[in-house]
Amino acid sequence: MGLNIETDFGQTPLSEEEKEDLIISTISNKQELDEFEQINIESAVEWSMKQVFKMEQIVSVSFILKLHKRMFGQTWKWAGKFRQSNKNLGIDKYQIPQELTKMIDDCQYWIENNIYLQDEIAIRLKHRLVSIHPFANGNGRHSRLYADILISHGFKRKIFSWGQSSFTSRGEAREKYLSAVRKADKGDIQALVKFARL
Ligand SMILES: Nc1ncnc2c1ncn2[C@@H]1O[C@H](COP(=O)(O)OP(=O)(O)O)[C@@H](O)[C@H]1O
Ligand SMILES: [Mg+2]
Repeated sequence: MGLNIETDFGQTPLSEEEKEDLIISTISNKQELDEFEQINIESAVEWSMKQVFKMEQIVSVSFILKLHKRMFGQTWKWAGKFRQSNKNLGIDKYQIPQELTKMIDDCQYWIENNIYLQDEIAIRLKHRLVSIHPFANGNGRHSRLYADILISHGFKRKIFSWGQSSFTSRGEAREKYLSAVRKADKGDIQALVKFARL
């Protein structure tokens, strides 16, 4: 049986090919998939907490790929790989590697020259990353964990609260988050910086 998953507003739908790429082929509905992904993500969070990452290591394209693989590699075959299809969100698939490299170069410059406050650097990077949308799915969750690792390992500050809620499904917190994300799309990053510390 094919995987029957509905896509919520503000989510990336999977192509039929991408849906075929489940590691555990017995997953058949959205709830099972959510649970499986959540266990996978928790193992990535645990792994990240046991590691010591230097800033140079975190601010790299290879780390971005490695983290996605850790978060989704027990669930999806395309984990840690650039998406091969275009989505309703994100840039054209062919531009992903070069835009990520530019993003990393810019971020290194922000850090070296203290262009923004530390929280703002992490949130700007998170928003740029999710706007590029490098992966078939999981871009939102990946970009938030990536920002958490950057702020805690790189800048040695407390991880973000992200509105203190799990907002992968519909609800007030998700609305607040997406509204801040859309302000960031228009160049106003402060609402997302604030949301991240609510
Ligand atoms: N207008 C937007 N601009 C930038 N990012 C967005 C926008 N709308 C949604 N997003 C981000 O994309 C994510 C959805 O992408 P997806 O790959 O499905 O991630 P996930 O599966 O982790 O939710 C949202 O959680 C949000 O972080
Ligand atoms: Mg999704």
